[in-house]
Amino acid sequence: MFESERDAGVYTAALVERIVMGEKDPVLGLATGSTPIPLYEALVQLYRSGLDFSRATTINLDEYIGIPGQHEQSYRHFMQTHLFQHVNIQPDRIFIPDGMAEDLDAECARYDKIIRQHAIHMQVLGIGVNGHIGFNEPDDLLVSRTHVVQLRQATVESNARFFPTLDDVPKRAITMGVQAILQAQHIILMAFGEEKANIIQRAIMGEVRTDVPASILQLHRDVVVILDKASASQLDPSVYLAGSQPTSSQLL
Ligand code: F6R
Repeated sequence: MFESERDAGVYTAALVERIVMGEKDPVLGLATGSTPIPLYEALVQLYRSGLDFSRATTINLDEYIGIPGQHEQSYRHFMQTHLFQHVNIQPDRIFIPDGMAEDLDAECARYDKIIRQHAIHMQVLGIGVNGHIGFNEPDDLLVSRTHVVQLRQATVESNARFFPTLDDVPKRAITMGVQAILQAQHIILMAFGEEKANIIQRAIMGEVRTDVPASILQLHRDVVVILDKASASQLDPSVYLAGSQPTSSQLL
């Protein structure tokens, strides 16, 4: 648990740095949204201090359907603005679903092939207020593979802060499925702010349920959860105080 999002970003960037420096061909699974911004800021600082991203491959979790990559609110544009334009990741090693693809099923299959060819060393995740990871929304079942998803009302409303009106918010997205997320060697789940406190509590301490998609991360053996005080406020302190961490995951 960190005092500030900035500190959390710096710590998380150090975890990513270890992968980038330690693996011959590092593969990073990346997320968009407000949460990872401090991480990307810290990674840009590390690049300026000499961290080399030229061998890194990045695979983003998701993209809106119906807005082009140049659109200010597309996830491709987000990644370009916050990370890619500032560091030396090779453009042909950057993968993001194409939300303008004419054949969306073919696009999902293409993306799964990319994921199969590039085993993800470290997957960065945010969490939706409804518990989604990527855009795997609460449902009766969770989909294993990359798929088209109808965004839930809570997600559309939450994303509306970035668009002129609610009508402008895309209602569909392409998202990586839960299989690809769970196959990552290491997972980092980040959450900041009071509005994430309840879902963090349910995802970490509650039962594994498909209507809380992030709870499936309890089944992974190497998850680091990066929180600030507000997002950790509904956790029992004994969970994250020294010496009493759950064995399968680390809360920071
Ligand atoms: C974004 C993504 C989403 C976000 C989540 C939290 O690529 O996959 O799951 O991580 O919606 O968004 P923020 O960080 O904006 O609260």
